[in-house]
Amino acid sequence: MNKNTVILISGSGSNMAAIVTASQKDRWRERFGAQVSAVISNKADAPGLAFAQKHHIPTAVVDHKGFASREAFDAALMAEIDRHTPTLVVLAGFMRILTPGFVQHYAGRLINIHPSLLPAFAGLHTHQRALDMGCKFAGATVHRVTAELDHGEILDQAVVPVLPGDTATTLAARVLTQEHIMYPRVVERLLRHMTVVKEG
Ligand code: GRF
Repeated sequence: MNKNTVILISGSGSNMAAIVTASQKDRWRERFGAQVSAVISNKADAPGLAFAQKHHIPTAVVDHKGFASREAFDAALMAEIDRHTPTLVVLAGFMRILTPGFVQHYAGRLINIHPSLLPAFAGLHTHQRALDMGCKFAGATVHRVTAELDHGEILDQAVVPVLPGDTATTLAARVLTQEHIMYPRVVERLLRHMTVVKEG
């Protein structure tokens, strides 16, 4: 049995693509019995879904708009995720706030990447806010997910300089390049030390 990883996306999925690429190039299955088992999106038109399909990763869509409450959406999402008995659930640009019940269900096996040096700039528009504050450095954080948004134990951080003339767009691109290096490394490190989740 493999250490299954499920990745949740909402958009371009470039972090997901970096993880899938690393898992295949660095032979995670042969080396430590881990694989990306599924990519799930809350948006049917998320560009990342095509990348996953091209790389032979099963995909699914659970559209939040089809549910009357956050709880109902999270229950459907959990059912879809749990079909893969995941050792690790990776949020990669997944733009939904999760209920405490969801977070509790995946306690110890749910991580996220956030485009700021937490605990600074939780929430949205992180790059513009860093520029507005005159920050000299920016970056991204991989952290465990708790019920409080963008909190939880910090697992790794990547730092980049803020350069003269930066806009939110140029800064975001510089940070994203580092995210693509950091996130697969953290996922690999965790999976190497985790054990397989048993069915049922
Ligand atoms: C990344 O900047 C990530 O830190 C944030 O959303 C963005 C997602 O980008 N949570 P992508 O979908 O992985 O390309």
